Amino acid sequence: TGTVTFDPGFMNTAATTSAITYIDGDAGILRYRGYPIEQLAKHSSFLETSYLLIYGNLPTATELENFDHRIRRHTLLHEDLKGFFGGFPRDAHPMPVLSSAVSALSTFYQDSLDPFDDEQVELSTVRLMAKLPVIAAYAHKKSIGQPMLYPDNSMNLVENFMRLSFGLPAEPYDVDPKLVKALDLLLILHADHEQNCSTSTVRLVGSSNANMFASISAGISALFGPLHGGANEAVLNMLRQIQATGMQPEDFMEKVKNKEDGVKLMGFGHRVYKNYDPRAKIVKATAHEILKDLGGNDELLDIAMRLEEKALADDYFIERKLYPNVDFYTGLIYKAMGFPEKMFTVLFAIGRLPGWIAQWREMMQDPQTKIGRPRQLYTGVPERNYPER
Ligand code: CMC
Repeated sequence: TGTVTFDPGFMNTAATTSAITYIDGDAGILRYRGYPIEQLAKHSSFLETSYLLIYGNLPTATELENFDHRIRRHTLLHEDLKGFFGGFPRDAHPMPVLSSAVSALSTFYQDSLDPFDDEQVELSTVRLMAKLPVIAAYAHKKSIGQPMLYPDNSMNLVENFMRLSFGLPAEPYDVDPKLVKALDLLLILHADHEQNCSTSTVRLVGSSNANMFASISAGISALFGPLHGGANEAVLNMLRQIQATGMQPEDFMEKVKNKEDGVKLMGFGHRVYKNYDPRAKIVKATAHEILKDLGGNDELLDIAMRLEEKALADDYFIERKLYPNVDFYTGLIYKAMGFPEKMFTVLFAIGRLPGWIAQWREMMQDPQTKIGRPRQLYTGVPERNYPER
């Protein structure tokens, strides 16, 4: 009914209004609830930024303390849910393990599924914030065959996640404040990005009034793809390949420009940013410092910087306004922290969680929300008769 607009990939279609995140892609500006990402990166914490995104304003000291306290109380996973990890193959990628376990939360926590009951929404918010990092760490432990530790609630969210990822039962785990600070910063940078593929997925699923766990599990599946969150893993594979083959960055760039075998410069380009991604700027500025502290692989960083330098001066990239995005340098830092490549997109998911929650909650409260249901232009056979045999 009425005119149908054809807009594949939603290049020009706004599917919602939103008061959460502002992006000016031409100017390279990103703000959460009005606060520039540069200021949040410098002064905030992941927990505080999560509160800001979900509730709309920076918390007072007491509000932050309460939020922290509630999250710490919900870190335990149901013991039966822990059994799930044993059912996956040993070499399973942790992203589908994460999305499956998050989907399964709606079977274990059935008292917080009503999207229109404020208390239940609060409870599922806190449960997800507390349990997703634990699930993520267990997916990692499972893949390396190590035992899963119980969370230690004397630690904050990021400290606990590091201990669950790298600690062993037989020895005390000393939290390295430099690691925690570096990860905290990266999580802030990933915390929201308005209507990207995974967030739009969370909204589309939620628009049918599906519960928060189900909606966010779908978002995790969307994030898995290499054009979205999976790009951070793909960047490291690309750098490794260039290093292993001894290929010159110039030669690799030729392959990209000739679109040989569909090769792309992973970590470059963005649907909205037609300028340097402000998150990439912050990561690049801190990459050297962090890698120096953590003893990261300088050779791969060198290759990345040479690729960037070449790309920024090349007509192919200039004409198409392709700049490094957030994923270009993050993998190198995650690697230096000790995470295997398969965990990179999982780390992105931990960071993006408060954004997904905030967007889902905003949608559920919005009187304009309707079930998401795109139209199509039918191109199939017009009509034909079933043959009489
Ligand atoms: N390397 C080489 N060429 C590229 C790249 C790239 N990374 N990105 C885009 N192009 C070319 C593309 O081939 C097209 O060329 P032409 O006009 O000759 O057909 C032109 O630039 C426009 O690109 P597009 O694919 O139409 O743009 P899009 O808005 O549909 O896609 C994108 C955006 C992010 C999917 C894409 O730039 C891409 O695939 N980048 C590599 C993957 C990546 O780094 N993803 C992370 C995105 S940021 C964080 C996140 O979401 O996870």
